[in-house]
Amino acid sequence: MVGTPPVSIAPMMEKTDRHYRYFVRRITRSTLLYTEMVTASAIVHGDRDYLLGFDESEHPISLQLGGDDPHELASAIRIAEEYGYDEYNLNVGCPSDRVQNGRFGACLMARPERVRDLIAAMRAVTTRPVTVKHRIGIDGRESYDDLLEFVDTVHGAEPSRFTVHARIAVLSGLSPKENRSVPPLRYEDVYRLKRERPHLQIEINGHIETLAQIEDHLCRVDGVMIGRAAYDNPWLLADVDARFFGSDPCSRSTRREVVEQMIPYLERWYAAGWPARNVVRHMLGLFAFQPGTRRFKQVLSGPEVNTDPVGVMRRAIRDIRPEVLDA
Ligand SMILES: Cc1cc2nc3c(=O)[nH]c(=O)nc-3n(C[C@H](O)[C@H](O)[C@H](O)COP(=O)(O)O)c2cc1C
Repeated sequence: MVGTPPVSIAPMMEKTDRHYRYFVRRITRSTLLYTEMVTASAIVHGDRDYLLGFDESEHPISLQLGGDDPHELASAIRIAEEYGYDEYNLNVGCPSDRVQNGRFGACLMARPERVRDLIAAMRAVTTRPVTVKHRIGIDGRESYDDLLEFVDTVHGAEPSRFTVHARIAVLSGLSPKENRSVPPLRYEDVYRLKRERPHLQIEINGHIETLAQIEDHLCRVDGVMIGRAAYDNPWLLADVDARFFGSDPCSRSTRREVVEQMIPYLERWYAAGWPARNVVRHMLGLFAFQPGTRRFKQVLSGPEVNTDPVGVMRRAIRDIRPEVLDA
């Protein structure tokens, strides 16, 4: 069993792609980053470099997989091994119709033995940690006892970590977005799980937005996964390395340095023919809650970004106060 990093950034489709991860790595060097969910079938049949490529600086990085076929998941991991991921994670939390039609994601919570077998198949082809991300339940299996039964069964395959989104997923009647806010948060169930199964590595997830909240959760569980707050306000992570990973507080970059570091990266992708917007869209939240954030977003979202991305980036920070840029 490996340890659990105190803080991680959640897998988020269309958000935690390689450009976001490169960007956020300029802000926190130690936080564990997850990819977006990639289906095992896409890896087996699709464009591997596009789906799996990442920059060395993104380590530590966990590849999140979706699927319900043990052979396909094992094949996907064999392929992914060449890319050097630090961990693999199985998605048992997504409630979308597309995912349900594929019989994976959150609906797998109704089939704990299947999840155990999937984890076993994944573990059989890698020496890297294999972890699972799931909900506290789904409609019809919502009690703490159902959660415990799920975890105890899946533990049969010894995943290295259970990441628990502290709400149930309602599989019929709620959209994926509603499923991230409507079912009530039940942190206490996750704390109880850790109390009753202290030998398991438990990471908590769901609406955690401040460093003080992270600190509080860490008194009760092994790790904290942050999703939307890390995307919408990435500077939230600026103090994470010093506060939770023990690194030197003076070694962190300023926002100006982060922007400067993104420029050669942007130039590289732009020169290779990629739309600059694919990179800069992840930076829109860099000045969240600061004076000038609106103007920064406006400039970065303007039409010139795809013709003069570096000029746009420099113009975007022109009106930001030095005490914010260099803090
Ligand atoms: C836009 C978006 C996409 C998401 N995509 C995934 C995904 O691919 N895999 C997954 O396990 N969870 C996904 N999630 C759920 C998050 O990983 C996380 O569990 C959820 O947002 C709750 O954490 P938060 O309240 O800190 O955002 C997604 C969430 C959002 C907002």
